[in-house]
Amino acid sequence: MNILNDTKSINVTLTKQSHINDVDWNNIPFGRVFSDHMLVMDYADGEWKQPEIIPFGDLLLNPATSAIHYGQSVFEGMKATKAENGDVFLFRPEMNAKRFRESCERMCMATIPDDIFVELIRKLVDIDRDWISTKEDYSLYIRPFMFATDDFIGVKPSETYKFVIFTCPVGTYYTEPVSVKIEEFYTRAAAGGAGIAKTAGNYGAALYPAKLGQMNGFHQLVWTDAKEHKYIEESGTMNILFVINGVLVTPSEESDTILRGTTKRAVIEVAKSWGMKVEERQVSVNEVISGIKDGSISEVFGAGTAATIAHIVKVGFRDEILELSPVEKRPFANKVKKYLDDLKAGKIEDINGWCLKV
Ligand code: COI
Repeated sequence: MNILNDTKSINVTLTKQSHINDVDWNNIPFGRVFSDHMLVMDYADGEWKQPEIIPFGDLLLNPATSAIHYGQSVFEGMKATKAENGDVFLFRPEMNAKRFRESCERMCMATIPDDIFVELIRKLVDIDRDWISTKEDYSLYIRPFMFATDDFIGVKPSETYKFVIFTCPVGTYYTEPVSVKIEEFYTRAAAGGAGIAKTAGNYGAALYPAKLGQMNGFHQLVWTDAKEHKYIEESGTMNILFVINGVLVTPSEESDTILRGTTKRAVIEVAKSWGMKVEERQVSVNEVISGIKDGSISEVFGAGTAATIAHIVKVGFRDEILELSPVEKRPFANKVKKYLDDLKAGKIEDINGWCLKV
């Protein structure tokens, strides 16, 4: 029987020794504390095998594991949040399921049907629901990932894969407002490349240019198009949005170089529902620089699962550093952040049906 027809039969082995009481809930570094369990599911012989939920722990790998050599590896980032009454929610998980599947397709990997992906996440999160804090800005970060496991060093799509989900209690990814540098030399993704996929190599290749930016005092880069470096694409770890003369503007997803962000999409849809004009279009570097200088750009912020809504307060461009309005003077970004936080905490009515109860 193919297990994907019957997620009820997941094998669950609970930990004998929870370490939840060891966590300092007032001081959780992002991504370094792991909850008690993880889900593991293997693909071989053309089908997914029985998924298992087991105590969080190491994976044993053959040195020839093909993902390590040739990068067939994709991941997602999601969050589970908890309302005061104990209800646990996933935010639009079907969007992550779709992006995960599309990333797998781009990387020639096995795929998981979207509904099964969501169901597996639900099962794991349910087991570790005590790990979700109701404190403001806190959540359970969920990291589903898949990698190629053939023990073979020829270059070809693997015939075997491992799918894993683990979770981490987290606070905010950026602990302060963000400063970014507009990158005009290095490239995150070119048309026809794998920029649209959430694949490990995109992040690995960004580390060096990001490190150069960090050495100059910036938290992150803003990537520009690979051909001319004239148009804004996205920032490291998040999509980027601007309020220009009262209009919400963000680079369009027409190219295959920008990651389709769940948080960005929610921001756009909420803005529209509030009657705000939204433009998804090419945004040139010139427009951004002159708009910051002449004050027509009143807000710049990033949107991402880990980053949530991250105010950008400084933009570096060539030899200039442009300062933006202080965080408290950003009516739109602050309002949309509060709206999404309240929604995920079950404090306001979920009129769009975005929150899936676990
Ligand atoms: C996310 O926002 O979930 C991401 O994947 C970004 C990052 C932490 C790599």
